[in-house]
Amino acid sequence: MTDTAAEAPKKTTLTVTIDGVPMEANPGELLIAAAERTGTYIPRFCWHPRMAEVGMCRMCLVEVSGPRGMSLQPACMQPCGEGMVVDTKSDTVKKAQDGILEFLLVNHPLDCPVCDKGGECPLQDQTLTFGPAESRFVEEKRHYEKPIAISDLVLLDRERCILCDRCTRFSKEVAGDPLIHFINRGNTTEVNTFPNDPFASYFSGNVVQICPVGALTATPYRFAARPWDLDQVESTCTTCSVGCKTVIQSSGDRITRYQGVDSDPVNWGWLCDKGRFGFEAVTSEGRFTSPLVRSAGTLAPVSWGEALGTVAKRLRAYDPSQIGVIGGARLTNEDQYAWAKLAKSVLRTDNVDAQLGDGLPAEAWLGLPSATINDASKATAIVLLGPDIKEELPVLFLRLRDAAANKRVPMVELSPVATGITKYANVSIRYRPGEVALAVGALVGSSDGTAVERQIAGVEPDSINAAAAVLQKAIAGGKGNGKIVVVFGPSVFGDSSDAMLEAAGLLLSHLPNVAFLPTLRRGNIRGALDLGLAPGLLPGRVSLADADVWFGSHWSALPAQRGLDTSAMLEAAAAGTLKALVLLGADLADCPDRRLVERALAAVELIVCVDTLPNATNTRAHVVLPAAGYAEKSGTTTNLEGRVTRVAAKVSAPGVARPDWTIAALLAFELGSDLGFESVEDVTEEIARVAPSHLGLTAAVLDARGASDGVLLPLPSLADAASVMGEAEETDAAAPLAVPSLLTFKPSGVSAVVPTPDSYSMRLVANRSLYDRGVHVQASSSLAHLAPTFGVHLNPGEIERHGLRDGGPVKVMSQSADLTTIVISDERVPRGVAVLPVSLGAQGASDLFDLVTATKEGITKVRLESVGS
Ligand code: SF4
Ligand code: SF4
Ligand code: FES
Repeated sequence: MTDTAAEAPKKTTLTVTIDGVPMEANPGELLIAAAERTGTYIPRFCWHPRMAEVGMCRMCLVEVSGPRGMSLQPACMQPCGEGMVVDTKSDTVKKAQDGILEFLLVNHPLDCPVCDKGGECPLQDQTLTFGPAESRFVEEKRHYEKPIAISDLVLLDRERCILCDRCTRFSKEVAGDPLIHFINRGNTTEVNTFPNDPFASYFSGNVVQICPVGALTATPYRFAARPWDLDQVESTCTTCSVGCKTVIQSSGDRITRYQGVDSDPVNWGWLCDKGRFGFEAVTSEGRFTSPLVRSAGTLAPVSWGEALGTVAKRLRAYDPSQIGVIGGARLTNEDQYAWAKLAKSVLRTDNVDAQLGDGLPAEAWLGLPSATINDASKATAIVLLGPDIKEELPVLFLRLRDAAANKRVPMVELSPVATGITKYANVSIRYRPGEVALAVGALVGSSDGTAVERQIAGVEPDSINAAAAVLQKAIAGGKGNGKIVVVFGPSVFGDSSDAMLEAAGLLLSHLPNVAFLPTLRRGNIRGALDLGLAPGLLPGRVSLADADVWFGSHWSALPAQRGLDTSAMLEAAAAGTLKALVLLGADLADCPDRRLVERALAAVELIVCVDTLPNATNTRAHVVLPAAGYAEKSGTTTNLEGRVTRVAAKVSAPGVARPDWTIAALLAFELGSDLGFESVEDVTEEIARVAPSHLGLTAAVLDARGASDGVLLPLPSLADAASVMGEAEETDAAAPLAVPSLLTFKPSGVSAVVPTPDSYSMRLVANRSLYDRGVHVQASSSLAHLAPTFGVHLNPGEIERHGLRDGGPVKVMSQSADLTTIVISDERVPRGVAVLPVSLGAQGASDLFDLVTATKEGITKVRLESVGS
């Protein structure tokens, strides 16, 4: 059912007796872990199950049998052995624990009443449970200036530190950001950063969570609540499509903190700082609290009845082909299904797309053979062909970094510019933007042993041959799970969708046992595509053409023909043929072609926005419908692997904001239809009964034991699921229908346009950074100022060639537009390439992109001009 189940513990072969009770342990399993698995908690400070053991604190001392009888051993350093006898409660152990805690407290300030950790502190808890009643030490304790900010998000109270080495190991081993260290020696040892080198890591919040004392605290949580005031519920982060497992903690109906929870297939307990501290956007003052209807040029609050009545009346005036629905990645699966049903069955339009023109066709995302994150972490080899995952999918970066750096999984990267993971790849192929298919063709062509002898796509033959050799060796060596996992998705503008699809086809046909892990952009985008928010698709990973009979028996009506994707909808709106846009949490400022968006918004007659926070698009709406946001509604979400997990409601939505599925149901009612939903459970149940890939995914399956890390779809076999479906249908006495086939990827066979070489211009690559000027980051006060400075990133050689200077002004001109910005010197950018952020505030690469030209030429070319300073 889940891949966790598939990876059930290996057969146990050792017998260990702990406190007189025999138990089985796995070969190589550490005593501390085996004891915990079988119900005996051995106290610890430094040991963490996701990091290498160091034996720093000695809190885990237990008596272990050996050739010379029982002796004290650190349980975190001791692998289980056959016949081992262990005593965790003897007088000797008790005396050792007393001593360790007494020493740890020699210098600890005991400022528990004013420490954020007080009430959830392992040092407090273990002192009470295992420690001495009194200390023999009466000397003055150490004093340091407190707290000191080691980054924008983390504070350090050095005298509370017990030198357990968790933060330092996490930073080095897990995040690859060795920015926090032990400095000085002996009694003056302290944890700190080096001067002028702050703890600027995207993963800094994790050290706060794993610090066993209150030495490291998070600025956004400092003095915000006490643990005993907190109430919590388990959920899934939906800020990006990795889908990390979290708990949402609240106090007094207000979110106070997110903490990571260990999910073996996904995040191993880690969160990125955007996911962790983005809760401030939910609690932000700017939230929509009431429906708004534009009147006399301004948006004014109205009742739900009036707002929905206005939307229904105006939508009724249009032909289905004149209505478009864009967005949906913010929504839960249930919201998405309800909106897909409303759009396709009630409004009967197939102009529906959850992507914003910067992805791949939904058929490709859903139809390529898929891999999980765990597949990648144990793969025979990993091929990275996508955006900078450290910026876009941070915890996936941690998992892939672990695979390459700690588990030595061979990794080949293809990217036009260096990324956060480049330094962990065995070989990086730095191809010319727009020529990905040529580069992949050269790689897979030479992986049959034929050496490449000339430069291809700007890549030297040595580089291609070295990468091919890595793949050949990995395949021949047969290590890992036998899969080649391609981490796959488009960067922005660098390569056209056609070129990426051609590259996918080449990888699929040339590499053995290849599977794809999609780098899907935006929160629950996988759920949106799975549940039909894409042109030509219906819920359950099926096409409109293949599933019309099936859905004809479940829904009242279907669109008459395949509709438009986002780019085509914007073009139709700009041309005046598409009249109404319904935006589901979509800020069109995030689309690649800003001038096309502008023309579309200026021409369209009706803009309806279902949203949580004001953005550049919804402030121009005719009607705004306030939606409940993350942590304010329950349901499910789907991560990039296709893993369905729960999201939970923890706090009330502001004002009269409602879950998106409710808004869809109410709007359908105003339009004279009934979606058939009175609760979110009704929607979950209908998805499990109707969407072919989700057949059988009932609430009972989602909440079953063993499904706490989510459920990968489809369920083990469609036949099983269909039998579940058959039983459900029997009660309606309906004749069983053939379940439509799920989508499979079929290479088009068409070669993508290859951009013509042009020594006068640069090729534009647009990138995304974790922190940007988008609404989510900007509404999170702790993160807003972390967005990097906007500018064009250029190789120092290009700066010199163009007579520019680092930090100086420059005009960047495409065929159809220009912008003036500053030069940022960046060694990671190759010559001939200009890198601009997609959209950082008023300016962005989308100012320069022109869909028509880019489609024709396969790339966006720009020229640089010094404007003097
Ligand atoms: Fe351990 Fe915390 Fe000190 Fe780091 S700051 S070494 S995590 S006690
Ligand atoms: Fe959330 Fe993505 Fe960060 Fe995980 S990686 S915490 S899902 S934003
Ligand atoms: Fe074993 Fe620290 S937990 S030495």
